[in-house]
Amino acid sequence: GYEISALLKETGNVTLDVGYVNTASCQSAITYIDGGAGILRYRGYPIEQLAKGSTFLEVSYLLIYGELPTTQQLEEFTGKVQRHTMLQEDLKNLLSAFPRDAHPMSVLSAAVSALGTFYQDSLSITDKDQIELSTIRLLAKLPTIAAYAYKKSEGQPLLYPDNSLGLVENFLRLTFGFPAEKYDVDPVMAKALDQLFILHADHEQNCSASTVRLVGSAHANLFASVSAGIHALSGPLHGGANSAVLDMLGEIQRGDDSVETFMKKVKNKEDGVKLMGFGHRVYKNYDPRAAIVKQTMDELLKKLGVNDPLLDIALQLEEIALKDDYFVERKLYPNVDFYTGLIYKAMGFPTRMFTVLFAIGRLPGWVAQWREMMEDPATKIGRPRQIYIGETERQFVPLDKR
Ligand code: ACO
Repeated sequence: GYEISALLKETGNVTLDVGYVNTASCQSAITYIDGGAGILRYRGYPIEQLAKGSTFLEVSYLLIYGELPTTQQLEEFTGKVQRHTMLQEDLKNLLSAFPRDAHPMSVLSAAVSALGTFYQDSLSITDKDQIELSTIRLLAKLPTIAAYAYKKSEGQPLLYPDNSLGLVENFLRLTFGFPAEKYDVDPVMAKALDQLFILHADHEQNCSASTVRLVGSAHANLFASVSAGIHALSGPLHGGANSAVLDMLGEIQRGDDSVETFMKKVKNKEDGVKLMGFGHRVYKNYDPRAAIVKQTMDELLKKLGVNDPLLDIALQLEEIALKDDYFVERKLYPNVDFYTGLIYKAMGFPTRMFTVLFAIGRLPGWVAQWREMMEDPATKIGRPRQIYIGETERQFVPLDKR
C-alpha cells in the first residue's frame, strides 16, 4: 500500500514486532536472564545466592549503584533511607480523599505521582544530587505510602514510621500495627518478605520497567516515570497476576469448577481463561524465582502453622500442568507469582495488597533502569513506528452530504 512504501522510503526497512518479542530497546548492564536455562542474575550475581545471603536494601544498592556495598556504604545507605520514610502531612490529605474501596495500586501510583508536587527540589534528570535525593525518597516513602493505602482500605488510623526499624520491619508495623499498641515484628515473617522483595527487585525490560524507561525517555522525572510503571505493573498479565492466582484458586475452592474442569477450560481457551501464574515471555523453563518461592512458602507455612486448602489446589494444578501436553509443548511453567499470593495471604495481607507488595520489591529495579538510561549517551526518546493499515487518501464529505 501507499503508506507502507512511504515508511520504507523514509527508513529503508520496517520491522513489525508486536509485543516486542524480538526487539531489544536498549543495552543494559543490570540484569541477565537466560530463559531457556532458567537463569537470573543481578549485576552478575545468581538470584539463588542473593536470595539466600543478601538483604533487600543491599540488593537495592547493588542494582542501583552496580556493586555490592561495603559495611560502611550499606550503613550510610540504610541511614539515608531510614531518614526519609515520613510523608509530608499534606500528602495524607490526598490519601484520605480517595474512596475507601479504591484499589491500593491506584492509590500507590497517584501518591507517587504526587511526590513530584511535594518534592520539587528533586525533579532534575541531570543533577546527580537531585537524582540521588529522589532515589532515596522513593525507596523510603513507597513502603509508607503502601502501608497507608492498606490502612485506608481497612478504615484504620495511620501510624508514623519508626525509624529505628529496618525497611521491612517498619513496613510491617505501619501495616499491621495500631497507635498506642506495641507491635512486635515476627522475624520469620520479616525475613520471608525481605527475600520476596529481593526476588522481585528487577527483571530487565519487562512491561513496567519498559514503561518507566519509555516515560523517562521523554525526560519525565523519576516520580512521574515510576508512577507510570506502577500502573503497568497493576495489569493481570504482569504484577496483577499474583492476586489473580488467588482469585482463581478461590473460585475452584468454592466449587465453581473442579480442578479438572478448570484445566479443560484453560486448554480449550474458553472465555479466555488462563492458568494464572503460569507462563512467561522469557522463561521457557521453571522460573528460578518460583523455585525459591515454593521452598520459602513450605518453610513459612510450617513455621506459622498455616494449613491452607488453596495450597493443595495450587499443587494439584501444577502437577497436572507439568505433565500435560498443552503446557509442555508451550513450555509453560509456574512463574514467580504462582505461589507468592499464598505466602502473602498467610502473612495476613488481603488479596488487593499483593501487587502493591510486588511494586515495593520492583522499585529498585525501576530506579536502576531509569538511572542507567539517563546516564547512557545513546538514549533517545522512545518512539516506535507503525505499519499503517487504514484508508488511503480520500476526500472530505460535508456533514449534510453523508
Ligand atoms: N495459561 C494457558 N495458556 C497460556 C498461558 C497460561 N497462563 N500462558 C500462555 N499460554 C498459551 C497462549 O495461549 C499461547 O497459546 P497458542 O500458542 O495456542 O496461541 C501460548 O501459550 C504462548 O503464549 P503467549 O500469550 O503468546 O505468550 P506471551 O509471551 O505473549 O505471554 C504471559 C506471556 C503474558 C506471561 C502469559 O504466559 C500469561 O498470560 N500468563 C498468565 C498471567 C501471568 O501469570 N502473568 C505473570 C507473568 S510474570 C510477571 O509479570 C511477574
